[in-house]
Amino acid sequence: MRSPKLMLALDLPTAEEAEAMLRQTKHAIDGVKVGLRLFVAEGPGFVRRIAARLPVFLDLKFHDIPNTVAEAVDSAGRLGVAIVNVHAAGGRRMMQAAAQAARRHPKLRVVAVTVLTSEALAPSEAQRIVVERAVQAQQAGLHGVVCSAQEAAAVRRSCGDQFLIITPGIRRRSDARQDQARIATPEDAARAGADWIVVGRPILQAEDPANAAAEIRRELTSS
Ligand code: C5P
Repeated sequence: MRSPKLMLALDLPTAEEAEAMLRQTKHAIDGVKVGLRLFVAEGPGFVRRIAARLPVFLDLKFHDIPNTVAEAVDSAGRLGVAIVNVHAAGGRRMMQAAAQAARRHPKLRVVAVTVLTSEALAPSEAQRIVVERAVQAQQAGLHGVVCSAQEAAAVRRSCGDQFLIITPGIRRRSDARQDQARIATPEDAARAGADWIVVGRPILQAEDPANAAAEIRRELTSS
């Protein structure tokens, strides 16, 4: 069984707060996700700085016409991020254009968002749509997907060992679910074959973020 890496979702309002959180948690995490909140507030300069220190997943969920998405993927590659994502719902041509743009940046991985983990679909329905979109993403030349750990094992079976699987919506048994619906524990994600788990509020809002991150990491490696 593979042991997934831990990615901290830096969903914080300012670079100062993000840097402070990184100082506290850096020993327990393998990478960070910069999403809409921080990117809109602090922009590409901040992302470039962080990407020089550790793997960054730029989570801007591109969803536009193929040419616009391809240009945005190219810009992400120039920032030096490790991973960027597009919405699978944007369609085959859009994903193909994104994959093509990524070829200019050999280290860049482009993954497709399948179905948001906040969508409360019935498990069989979620699995059907997620697997269908994952296969489409793979056929379009993308490197992987973002999906809930509840569907990760099915994606792994359909798309194989090399396909990158990133799972947000991770909660320990003691954590609040908040707006997430299709949640799973770190241990479930490891069993399902995820490559990365993405964790935000269970670490960001913990009394001791370093300790919460270390605990989650222990759950990943002991499962
Ligand atoms: O705080 P929490 O652990 O719920 O954070 C999960 C992060 O993963 C958020 O930044 C959210 O935007 C992101 N995400 C998600 N579901 C997806 C894709 C990204 O929750 N399908």
